[in-house]
Amino acid sequence: MMPPQASLFRALFWVSILASAYAYDACAEVAGKTWVLPSEARACLRSFPVDPVVKANVIEVVNKTLAFHTSTNYQIHAPEPFEDQVHEDLARDLARIGASEYASDFDFHLDMYRSFKLVNDGHCGVYNLCYDSLYVTYLPIPLVLVNGHDVQIAPEAFDVATAEFGEEISFWQEALPGDLKGKLHRLSGARVLAINGADPWVAIDANAEIAGGYQAFTTRQNGFFASYRASSGWDYMMGNFAQLTHPLLDSVDLILRLTNETGTTALTLPYRSRFSAGAVNFTDSASYRANNCVATNHTNGRDAYESGLASEQDATAPYARVQQQPALPVRDRRHGMSVIMDGAPYADLALPVTMRPSTPALNESYSVAQFFMLDDSQTGVLALGSFSAPNFTAFQESLLYGLVALKARGASNLIVDVTNNGGGYICIAHWLHRIIVGRKPTSEPQAGLDTTTRAGPLAQLIVRRITEGGDPEEHLLYNPAQWRNATHQPFPAESDWLEPEEVVINGHADAFSQRMGQECQPFDMDPPTEALFEPENVIIMSNGRCASSCSLFSITMAKEEGVRTLVYGGSADRAQQYCGVVGGQSTDFSTMDTEVKSAKLKNNTLSPPDFLTNSVQGITWRLGYGIDDPLEPEEWQDHPADINLPVSFDMVNKPEVLWAHVAGLAFSKKLSFIAQQSSG
Ligand SMILES: *[C@@H]1O[C@H](CO)[C@@H](O)[C@H](O)[C@H]1NC(C)=O
Ligand SMILES: *[C@@H]1O[C@H](CO)[C@@H](O)[C@H](O)[C@H]1NC(C)=O
Ligand SMILES: *[C@@H]1O[C@H](CO)[C@@H](O)[C@H](O)[C@H]1NC(C)=O
Ligand SMILES: *[C@@H]1O[C@H](CO)[C@@H](O)[C@H](O)[C@H]1NC(C)=O
Ligand SMILES: *[C@@H]1O[C@H](CO)[C@@H](O)[C@H](O)[C@H]1NC(C)=O
Ligand SMILES: *[C@@H]1O[C@H](CO)[C@@H](O)[C@H](O)[C@H]1NC(C)=O
Ligand SMILES: *[C@@H]1O[C@H](CO)[C@@H](O)[C@H](O)[C@H]1NC(C)=O
Ligand SMILES: *[C@@H]1O[C@H](CO)[C@@H](O)[C@H](O)[C@H]1NC(C)=O
Repeated sequence: MMPPQASLFRALFWVSILASAYAYDACAEVAGKTWVLPSEARACLRSFPVDPVVKANVIEVVNKTLAFHTSTNYQIHAPEPFEDQVHEDLARDLARIGASEYASDFDFHLDMYRSFKLVNDGHCGVYNLCYDSLYVTYLPIPLVLVNGHDVQIAPEAFDVATAEFGEEISFWQEALPGDLKGKLHRLSGARVLAINGADPWVAIDANAEIAGGYQAFTTRQNGFFASYRASSGWDYMMGNFAQLTHPLLDSVDLILRLTNETGTTALTLPYRSRFSAGAVNFTDSASYRANNCVATNHTNGRDAYESGLASEQDATAPYARVQQQPALPVRDRRHGMSVIMDGAPYADLALPVTMRPSTPALNESYSVAQFFMLDDSQTGVLALGSFSAPNFTAFQESLLYGLVALKARGASNLIVDVTNNGGGYICIAHWLHRIIVGRKPTSEPQAGLDTTTRAGPLAQLIVRRITEGGDPEEHLLYNPAQWRNATHQPFPAESDWLEPEEVVINGHADAFSQRMGQECQPFDMDPPTEALFEPENVIIMSNGRCASSCSLFSITMAKEEGVRTLVYGGSADRAQQYCGVVGGQSTDFSTMDTEVKSAKLKNNTLSPPDFLTNSVQGITWRLGYGIDDPLEPEEWQDHPADINLPVSFDMVNKPEVLWAHVAGLAFSKKLSFIAQQSSG
């Protein structure tokens, strides 16, 4: 383990070697510029060779931290229906990466990043803020999928791009050929006939192969396209075609049929890279590395009994930058979380005002929870963009008061729109389930899933230290005081609750804890006894991209309460999954490192060393048991949507129009719909 100063000196040492080898400093060329060509950004990122010490360090940290990730052995070969989608052996990847040569440190990171993406588990990944989203790379033409098959440039493309990119739009205006020069708006709504000389579906599927995050191929296909997410300002996501985490592509060749034209138009449109708002400014190679690439005070854990607990600054800790939820204060981070991570920034763009709901949200709305009453006077909508919001208490109150307000206005039906909801607080998922369905055996005391955690040798040692009195102030995640047994009773203080239950998974010996119950109830506030809505009058809708705590909520509502699920906007040819990436509780390397350091086990050979780099490793720490098959994890069980709804050109990315359509489909014609489902 190297102290931070030593790692900084080491980085500077390499930079000085480079500086003398190349008079030309590719990072000085881009320094201070907000917009650059991808090739220019790439030249800077690629200008650092692999430092064997750093490479060995990253591999060792990642490898040893994987022992805390529940799913390593399952992911070697997932069961049906994900047999074809999840079959990645991360231990073997790390051995391969260790033995591989790379042209640059960036290429080494890309291999690590992509290998982890292949487990298709948004909780499990390796990120490096030296490279991921340092330069987010864009095209001004996000795509949408219309009628379940046709690829078109989003009708709102020009509005979104001009609002977000400002003057920079002139770069693309100038890049357009012939008569189109200066007429970027003409591309909005165009039909896309070919991408890089092939059918657009070739590009959609190629992206789905590597995009990661979700088990289901269809859900990864959907990530190629532009979409929205509920928040007080309504976020807009460009999709994986128009927004890249790394500056790896320079341009795209398109064949389009422009709106109101019969002929076709071929053009090449360049990508453009923008220096991320979250990155730290630099002036040259040395300051780029020093400011963005070495471990910060929050990269690694800390001994809670020496340096104190997390401070307010932790809100900007590296892991917070990759978690796909709003920025949270430290005070609310003590609540257990299940949230996905990604190299892409959480919220960069806004849905154009004209596309947002025209009726104002109810006053009970708060942050990511927005409530609307539809014109039919009987359908209420909860648009829920995350299971995390900046104030846990205000969020919890808002969900209850908002639903009560919808009922007071006459709503008997409820649409919960969880489009792009990447999870958040576990107990908010339990709370929402509980308040909608009322008090019943499926909502009290357990409104979520029972879980298990991995009982690796180092985890067992941590628990043993705690049972010996090593955590008197109860700071640690492995403290029995934090958890309850399968019948929801607290584990006795200082009990060795992590005695391993041995299992064999895909031919590998493994060990997990006993079954763990819930720790959310009783809630901080009293839930109403009666159901707020009848399950048959509730529908959960999304683009399939609902993960973590969003999956906990959707799965328990669908499988236990019979609530219907709808996925809109996906391919008409394939069944869609209404959620993915279930987990149970997610965490990261720095949190595990705090456990190790506080338990005075950092010197143990099983313990990961400190990261030398500005890296984050995300893991699944608890895994929920299944509902249909309660002996296996829910993670790889089937979550087919009841309804696959292709969207027309007029509906795409307009939440209010979609809700009205869904209400008509799901509620007014409820009887015919049910008949159709049971006969189909
Ligand atoms: C970084 O540089 C940009 C552009 O030069 C400038 O607007 C911004 O204020 C700088 N940020 C900091 C923290 O210095
Ligand atoms: C990862 O750790 C295991 C021991 O748990 C070891 O056998 C293996 O060689 C390590 N892999 C790498 C790439 O260091
Ligand atoms: C296409 O034609 C229709 C009907 O003439 C017109 O209303 C619309 O504005 C045209 N759209 C574009 C993008 O030119
Ligand atoms: C990092 O921690 C050290 C030691 O606690 C402190 O002196 C330094 O100011 C911190 N740096 C930042 C950027 O917070
Ligand atoms: C919502 O709050 C605003 C400002 O307090 C108030 O003017 C308005 O009447 C409220 N609307 C409803 C429907 O309660
Ligand atoms: C969080 O919300 C609660 C309930 O609305 C409020 O009482 C509390 O003051 C808020 N906390 C902060 C730090 O704003
Ligand atoms: C949970 O703990 C309680 C109290 O110690 C005990 O009575 C109960 O049997 C335990 N349940 C299980 C499943 O171990
Ligand atoms: C690790 O070992 C070294 C040398 O044996 C010792 O000085 C140090 O205190 C130990 N650190 C911890 C955290 O146990």
